[in-house]
Amino acid sequence: MSKTIVITSGKGGVGKTTSAINLGAAINHFGGDVIIIDGNLSTPNIGIHLGAPEVPITLNQVLSKKEDLFEAVYEHESGLKIIPSSLSIKELKKTKPEEIKNFKKEFENLAEYVIIDCAAGLGNEALSTIEMADELIIITNPEMPAITDALKTIKIAEELKKPVMGTIITRVRKNNSEMKPETVKEMLEVPILGMIPEDEDIQKSLNKKDAIIHTHPKSKSARAYKEIAAKITGVEYNSDKDKETLMEKIYKKLGIKK
Ligand SMILES: Nc1ncnc2c1ncn2[C@@H]1O[C@H](COP(=O)(O)OP(=O)(O)OP(=O)(O)O)[C@@H](O)[C@H]1O
Ligand SMILES: [Mg+2]
Repeated sequence: MSKTIVITSGKGGVGKTTSAINLGAAINHFGGDVIIIDGNLSTPNIGIHLGAPEVPITLNQVLSKKEDLFEAVYEHESGLKIIPSSLSIKELKKTKPEEIKNFKKEFENLAEYVIIDCAAGLGNEALSTIEMADELIIITNPEMPAITDALKTIKIAEELKKPVMGTIITRVRKNNSEMKPETVKEMLEVPILGMIPEDEDIQKSLNKKDAIIHTHPKSKSARAYKEIAAKITGVEYNSDKDKETLMEKIYKKLGIKK
């Protein structure tokens, strides 16, 4: 049976797209059949992150019923499937974001895990994807403005009777000025699925146009995403055993590829 997981936040720029891609890649790494859908139609990023910025057929044409859904599915070399949205403003103007709700069943026929990257805010576009969720994952940073918006999103989810799987706290620096995970948990009253550290390798993976799970599989953030994916899929995973060995670190410093 397929499950639709919507990655949302409230506040923009907190790490939704990064999390959608890397959770999807990590679930795929553990053998799950995954499709990532760019539900952020106004400012789509999935194609950019995964090296498919300009594709001939996008979710936009599917929503406006000009193309069949299958034509908009692209397969990454890892086996991860994606449906990018169009970068064109002209296409965006022709698209009705609320149409996405009508495709839930069709998306679920494409993979076991349907992961939808959501637009920021709580406007029509974000709400249309939230309404499709079997479960929601709320992304936040350990800072008050992000947490306040996350709380608002959780309240809306409650009103819509959409279960919240939990929150992922991203860009964690572990300094004194950021909020502690216990405080975040107390405020949001949902489980913390995991914490993703601030990691410069994330930017490097973006430059390489691929998930950090693929470009830096042993980095601290890749292992953190794998831990969450393991929980979701019920796979056993020990992130300590997945660390870089001393020799691997030395090879990397010397720029030697094994
Ligand atoms: N753990 C991390 N460490 C360092 N940089 C990160 C981390 N997570 C995300 N980023 C960076 O933060 C920026 C915002 O991330 P992302 O695009 O995933 O956020 P978003 O919530 O999808 O934004 P939007 O609301 O605009 O769609 C990106 O430049 C991304 O590379
Ligand atoms: Mg995004």
